[in-house]
Amino acid sequence: MTQTATNTETRVIGIASGKGGVGKTTFAINLATYHALKGRKVLIFDADIGLGNIHIALRNKLNGNLVDVLEGRKEIQDILVESETGISIISGGNGLDESLSLNNENTNNIIRAFAALENQFDIMIVDISAGASQSVLHFLSACHHQIVIGTNEPSSVADAYALIKLMHLNLGLSDIIFIPNKVVTKQEGSILFEKMNTITAKFLGVALNFIGSISESSDYSLAWNKGKAAISMGETTTCYHDFAAIVDAIDKISINPKSGEIQFFNPTK
Ligand SMILES: Nc1ncnc2c1ncn2[C@@H]1O[C@H](COP(=O)(O)OP(=O)(O)O)[C@@H](O)[C@H]1O
Ligand SMILES: [Mg+2]
Repeated sequence: MTQTATNTETRVIGIASGKGGVGKTTFAINLATYHALKGRKVLIFDADIGLGNIHIALRNKLNGNLVDVLEGRKEIQDILVESETGISIISGGNGLDESLSLNNENTNNIIRAFAALENQFDIMIVDISAGASQSVLHFLSACHHQIVIGTNEPSSVADAYALIKLMHLNLGLSDIIFIPNKVVTKQEGSILFEKMNTITAKFLGVALNFIGSISESSDYSLAWNKGKAAISMGETTTCYHDFAAIVDAIDKISINPKSGEIQFFNPTK
């Protein structure tokens, strides 16, 4: 795998969901693998504090986590581990909740710690906890793009709406991307997107951004069991095509850092 060093700005994509188990981590790993296959330098920040499993999915052994960095035992470079496919991983740690509460100050310190990795990656994918807690919203506001993953179940739709509402009201975010996951047909994906978009338009005046949907496929769990991403099973698979279309669409969105908010790789704002 040849990956070139980069001096360009790192595009930071936050992946969130209202409800757990809808496919955030699966999405993060496949998105990351697609970029790595294209020769881009990719970093995943596993910010699903307490339930972080990126390293398990990619069969990596961690070398500490952000708690070690915040408590001064390690530098962020020391906890960076690399998967077989060349994806770098930073773990938020599983004990962060207990040993160090995720208040605004600690969340800001985590975001600031990434400054030491500036200009080293083309893309950073942040796999965020489910729900709409303060730290979830904080991490989301520090990313360039916000993706909400949802499935076609009433609880997923209700919880995605609750999250999007707070992203809009508390953070003033627009251009929120909603990606329907586990859809049986592309038509089901479009209908689910329209359903979400209609609700957010009606009650919040928010228009969601559509960049595609992800089809249901047993390849995701098959690949997971082998410590791989489904898209690495080949360019002819539905998984590969779904991610190719989504990456293509994300690449076309320009990076517009918001002023006034602390952001990954731009901690001075
Ligand atoms: N498009 C999909 N098709 C089939 N199964 C999927 C799909 N996306 C995710 N899954 C499965 O759903 C389960 C939960 O996914 P996961 O990525 O761990 O969710 P989250 O990170 O949101 O909790 C896993 O078993 C995963 O293999
Ligand atoms: Mg997860």
